[in-house]
Amino acid sequence: MAKIIAVLTQKGGVGKTTTAYALSSVYHSKGYRVLAVDMDPQHNLSLGMGGEWEERATIYHVLKNEVSARFAVQRTAVTDLIPSTTTLSGIELEFTGRDRQFLLKRALEPIEGNYDYMFIDCPPGLGILSTNALVAANYVIIPTLSDLYSLQGLVELYETISFVKGQDNPSLEIAGVLLARYDGRTKLARELLGTAQMVCENLNIHLFKTKIRSCITLTEAQNMQCDLLKYARYSNGALDYTALANEMISRGV
Ligand SMILES: Nc1ncnc2c1ncn2[C@@H]1O[C@H](COP(=O)(O)OP(=O)(O)OP(=O)(O)O)[C@@H](O)[C@H]1O
Ligand SMILES: [Mg+2]
Repeated sequence: MAKIIAVLTQKGGVGKTTTAYALSSVYHSKGYRVLAVDMDPQHNLSLGMGGEWEERATIYHVLKNEVSARFAVQRTAVTDLIPSTTTLSGIELEFTGRDRQFLLKRALEPIEGNYDYMFIDCPPGLGILSTNALVAANYVIIPTLSDLYSLQGLVELYETISFVKGQDNPSLEIAGVLLARYDGRTKLARELLGTAQMVCENLNIHLFKTKIRSCITLTEAQNMQCDLLKYARYSNGALDYTALANEMISRGV
C-alpha cells in the first residue's frame, strides 16, 4: 500500500509545490512507483510536471465522483499525476455534506496498491481541500521559510493537524518541518534556525536536518516541465531534495 504524503502549510509561496514536484522526481529515480496528486486549484504542480487539464479528467472530477481516480491518472515527464484545474476552487461551496473531508481518501483507496508513494500538493490555507489531504495522508511535510511569521504559523498548523488526527485520521504523522529557501550564510537565518528548533522541540515535531537552499534550477525545471533529476541532477536543488528523500527514508517515511 502506498505511503501518502501531503505537502501542506497555510502560507502561500513557501515551496509546497516545488517540494511535491522534486520529491516525486527523486523517489521515482530511486525506482519507487510514485503518484503526484494536485489538490491546488492554481494547478502549479500539474503545470510544472507537464500535465494537462483542459478537457481532461482532473482531481475535481474525481472528488465529484464523476470519474474514478485511475482514469484521471496521466503519465507525465516526471511521474504519474492526477492533475487539477481552477474549477476545483468551487468545491468549498459545492460540497456541504457532513463527510466531505473523506472525498480524497475514498477516491485514492482503490489505487493505493498501484503505488509506493503518493505526494499530495495542497493549496495555501486550511480549507476543505487541505483537510481532505490530511484525512487521506499518512504523513505531512511542512515547508516553511525561516522567518518569524512562518514559524508563528506552525503552531496554528500543528493544532489543525492534531484536530484532524483526533477526529478523522488517527494514523496521521508529521514527517517533519522543512526549511525551504534557506540561506545559512546570513546571521539572521542562523538565528531563526535556533527559533525553528525551539518551536519544533516544544511541539515535539521533527525539524528536517536537510535544508533546501535557494536554487533557480528548481523554478527553471518546473517552467520547462522537465524531470528535476534529468534536468539538473547536480544542482543544489536536486542535491538537497535527494538528501531530504534519504533523510525521510532513513526515518521510515
Ligand atoms: N529552493 C528554492 N529556490 C528558489 N526558488 C524556489 C525554491 N523553492 C521554490 N521556489 C520558487 O518560489 C516560488 C514559490 O514556490 P512554490 O510554488 O513551490 O510555493 P507554494 O508554497 O507551492 O506556493 P502556493 O502557496 O502559491 O501554492 C516558485 O516560483 C518556485 O519556483
Ligand atoms: Mg503551490
